[in-house]
Order: sequence, then C-alpha cells, then structure tokens
Amino acid sequence: MIVATLDGVLHPSDQPLLRPDDVGVLRGDGVFETTLVVDGVPRDLEEHLARLAVSATMIDLQLPADDEWRRGIDAVLQAWTPLPDRQMVLRLIATRGPEHADVPTCYVTGGPLPEATCAQRDGVRIRVLPRGFAGREIVVMPWLLPGAKTLSYAINMAAIRHAKSLGDQDVVFVGTDGTVLEGPTATVVLAVGDTLTTPPRDGILDGITVRRLFAAAEKAGWTTRRAEFETERLLSAGGAYLLSSARILAPIVSVDGTARPIGPRTAELAALLELPGAPNGR
Ligand SMILES: Cc1ncc(COP(=O)(O)O)c(C=O)c1O
Repeated sequence: MIVATLDGVLHPSDQPLLRPDDVGVLRGDGVFETTLVVDGVPRDLEEHLARLAVSATMIDLQLPADDEWRRGIDAVLQAWTPLPDRQMVLRLIATRGPEHADVPTCYVTGGPLPEATCAQRDGVRIRVLPRGFAGREIVVMPWLLPGAKTLSYAINMAAIRHAKSLGDQDVVFVGTDGTVLEGPTATVVLAVGDTLTTPPRDGILDGITVRRLFAAAEKAGWTTRRAEFETERLLSAGGAYLLSSARILAPIVSVDGTARPIGPRTAELAALLELPGAPNGR
C-alpha cells in the first residue's frame, strides 16, 4: 500500500501515521472516500472530492481545500507502479485529528484491488438484513448522519461478517417499512426491461456509481427511476445489482440462499459504466 499526506510526502505503510489519541481511531470520528484508479486515472475524482466535502460538513469538520487533496493523490498516483492493467483502490481519509487539537488528520492511500472484490463483478450472493430504521424516518435526524460517508462503518462491516457466517458474501439492508435501502458499501439497482430503479436517496449514501450509470443509461435510451421497492423485487426483477466505486457492478446471483439469474442486459450496463477489463488475466 502507498500512503501520502496532503503535503505530497510518502509514508511507509508499515509505520504508524496516526497519534493514539486521534478521534478517528477513538470514535470513528471522520469521513472518507474510495474510488478506483484505472490506467493511472482515478474515476469520478471531482464527485468524490465533492462528496467528501458534503460528509465533512455533515459532521462539522473543516477540511483542507481540494488542491491539497490533489497533492496527496498525485503523490500516491506517481508512486504506484502497477502490474500491467492492475487497478488501484484510492482512499481519501480525514479524521477530526488528535483529541482537543482541532486539526484534522488527512491522508491518501492506494492499494491493489482485492481479488475477492474484483471477483464479485461475476456475481455476488447477498443476505437481506434489517437496518432498524426506515430511510424516510432518519432523513429528518441529522445527528444519525443519514447519507454521510463517515469512518463509523463498524455496523456495516459486522453485517457483512454476519452474511459471510451464513455462507453469503454481502448484504442488502431493508428498512422497517419493508423497502430496500442500500448495501453496507454499495447502492442497489434493479433492471426491468429498459428501466433502471434505485431506492430514493432518503437516509442512504448518494452513490456516485449509480449517478454515473443513470447519466450514461439515459443517454442510451434507458428510463431511470428513484423509487421504493420491497425485497421480493431482488429475486423477481430481470437484473439486480450492487454498485460501488471499486467493484463498480456486481450482479446479484443469490438472495438469502435462493439463486437468481444474472440480468440479460448486464453486459450493456457494464459497458455504460466503462467497467475495466479483468486485471491479471482473470
Ligand atoms: C453505504 C454505502 N452505500 C453506497 C455506496 C456506493 O457508493 P459509490 O458508488 O459512490 O461508491 C457506498 C460506497 O462505499 C457505501 O459505503
């Protein structure tokens, strides 16, 4: 892994970078972004920097300017000497910094796209798990940080571990109103005929990959909708997908242990998202 601070200085990835009292560690108090670098170019970098700023505003955290982030990002990109066609996962991390210091800790990392993540582009088995709230309910509770991409992902990771303990790979959260919310690290999209549907933004992260898909799909003649749907649709829709910046497009092939086919227009969606070729001859 490559690590750089926003002054453009590289740091050894096996040496500590944070102070022990950094509230990012003590309380998960911070925000982050993840994107994929293909052929040395980060995908949707403007959008990720913009969302980092939105998340920071939601937790009342002052961030350095985008130019400073770009200095750290450039240092990581330059230090990356990829294997041919190897894709890199780029992370931007900002914590509130050492306790009582009022100076955020900001850094950028780059590392190889994990093989298991990449393999999900061929299919992912998901488990539906209750999230314990409805999207519309928490959208009016800003202290619950609906839609902020914060470092407090312990619940999201616990949900994925639970799914794995049941033999699945990932999760789709369902709200108390019975409608689908999102995955712990992904947006849910259904494809039926030439219509793509994703849940409304209420209470969930405003996914950048789904925005990119919808913009490209509309130009290609698809209809796109943000509308509530219930979990049965994950099995009955022609295609069901998890979308996220590193995986990009993962067709759901099993829901709670029941197999479902890969949607017939999956290759078209992959092309609309400019899904990069499989690295390392996969
Ligand atoms: C909770 C959550 N929802 C959705 C997404 C997908 O968002 P994006 O497409 O911007 O990566 C992510 C990405 O990590 C996420 O953490």
